[in-house]
Amino acid sequence: MSILKILTYPDPVLKKKAKPVEMINVRIKNLVEDMLETMYAAPGIGLAAPQVGESLRVITVDVTRKEEGLIVLINPEIISGEGECTEEEGCLSVPDLKEIVQRKEKVLVKGLDLEGRKIQIPAEGLLAIAFQHEIDHLDGILIIDRVSRLKRDIFKKKLKKKFK
Ligand code: NI
Repeated sequence: MSILKILTYPDPVLKKKAKPVEMINVRIKNLVEDMLETMYAAPGIGLAAPQVGESLRVITVDVTRKEEGLIVLINPEIISGEGECTEEEGCLSVPDLKEIVQRKEKVLVKGLDLEGRKIQIPAEGLLAIAFQHEIDHLDGILIIDRVSRLKRDIFKKKLKKKFK
């Protein structure tokens, strides 16, 4: 296992739509092991494969941060959602930004586990937010894409200054 480098905005991999996993083979299992080590070391409560440079539909989530709440999902999809909530979110790929993002309060997520079994997970609160955030990554969407244009422009200006 190894800790992988987490890509940060504006790396182009983060903007790409990730491809579905066709076969859960050793390569995918190794990727997941490395993602878990990377997520816990960061530390973070979720990670999506594009964040470590693999444009594949794989996410890891653990809102407990201590392996009790560990969820690995291959090809995850949100089947349904209800209610609205707004919470401050951060992202390992957008290090200096904390933004209030509007999300569904409850979601039903489906996907495959590492053995290829179909699973469905009803989620609410922080777990629901984490799923929506990580699945966004698979579609090339970052938290800066979920805030107002004004806030996005301010963030981009700051970033430009930083790299001048
Ligand atoms: Ni993120």
